[in-house]
Amino acid sequence: MTMALATRALPLACLMLLLLQRDPGAGAQTTLGFELQQPQDKVSVKAGGTLTLICTTSNRSLPGPVKWLKGWGSENQTIFDQTGSFPRVTRAVDGSDTVHTIHIRDVQPEDAGTYYCVKFRKSLSAAEEVLQRGKGTQVSVLAKPTHPLVSGPGHRVGPGESVPFTCTAGRFFPEDISVKWFKNRTSISAQPPQITSGRTKSSYNMSSTVMMTLREEDIRSQLICEVQHRTLTAPLRGTYQLSQALRVSPSVNVDADPPSPIGVSKTVKFTCHVKGFYPGNVVVTWLENGTEMNMENTFRLVEMPQGLFQLNSVVEVKAMEEKNGSTFTCRVVHDAQDPVDRMATLRITAPAREGGSEWALTVNGLNLLSSPGLWIGILLEKGLLGGLLVFLFKRARE
Ligand SMILES: *[C@@H]1O[C@H](CO)[C@@H](O)[C@H](O)[C@H]1NC(C)=O
Ligand SMILES: *[C@@H]1O[C@H](CO)[C@@H](O)[C@H](O)[C@H]1NC(C)=O
Repeated sequence: MTMALATRALPLACLMLLLLQRDPGAGAQTTLGFELQQPQDKVSVKAGGTLTLICTTSNRSLPGPVKWLKGWGSENQTIFDQTGSFPRVTRAVDGSDTVHTIHIRDVQPEDAGTYYCVKFRKSLSAAEEVLQRGKGTQVSVLAKPTHPLVSGPGHRVGPGESVPFTCTAGRFFPEDISVKWFKNRTSISAQPPQITSGRTKSSYNMSSTVMMTLREEDIRSQLICEVQHRTLTAPLRGTYQLSQALRVSPSVNVDADPPSPIGVSKTVKFTCHVKGFYPGNVVVTWLENGTEMNMENTFRLVEMPQGLFQLNSVVEVKAMEEKNGSTFTCRVVHDAQDPVDRMATLRITAPAREGGSEWALTVNGLNLLSSPGLWIGILLEKGLLGGLLVFLFKRARE
């Protein structure tokens, strides 16, 4: 059956019309001398850009509107008709009977699909019937991937642990995409990305995962996910600071200055050395015989060149005799982890008791017998006593 025949033979045209209504799939059509041309087979447009869909009809004006539909059958959606409001759509030639070309601006991946230019005719019943439709224009929307996002493990892990990092980017079209991983400038091998699509396959999402074993030195390292797609002039990069995923626990030790045992009433300084940790959130408390000491605890957090932190916390204790054998514990809670305790014991030397002499006094930890001042004092005292005795003796003689 040729189209030309239909124009000449009206009964045949009616048959054609019936056929078209059932299976409206043919190309340029002529019905009752009416011709509709939808010349574009395939169009691709960049997301955000403007899509132009071309449709022309013959001069002969028949009652009934021309509309643009997306999809056919139950899935169809009216993109444009003369009566409705379609904010993104404008007609190329306003009010024209023959040019039904439209522009759709700010095209999004969801706009991908097949568009039909359709001439309806007014029937006796209220419902509109399809008189003719164009052969359809397949629209694909070239969409740039969204900026790649790199996510790490949900919690911090220690050096030596292997954890996954995932890079995702979405809403791109077409499907082909390449993903590369780098740690700083070094390339890391990864499995090919997983590509998933929405129901309509108008755009795709990708997810790429690498396993990495973290090291202490990685605090200053960066993980980079590089995405290349035909819509991009330069690759997109997502970054992740490995410090976000890393926890390095401190080493803790306590020393005493001067070292025990020490003399009574001397002052001893206990220093808690907390070294090589990350991140910097740490709580240091001191306990005396297991009970938290009520003291002001100030320390200065020092950042080392590699990014690890360290600090010293100092507590001063006066070596009273009753504190002999007391324990001083430095308790370190790093990044809400289990506490680490390091303990030191205060030992106080027994006072020297030389031959049971009353002279063996210790004051402020100094043995007075070793003090020259005391000897001078004793000599002075003896001298005064002698002088007094001489004075009294002389008075008695008078
Ligand atoms: C479009 O969809 C509606 C509702 O699903 C349906 O009634 C109508 O027949 C469809 N039109 C075409 C041309 O497929
Ligand atoms: C402190 O205790 C140690 C042993 O526990 C003991 O040898 C020392 O004499 C004690 N010192 C004092 C001042 O009591």
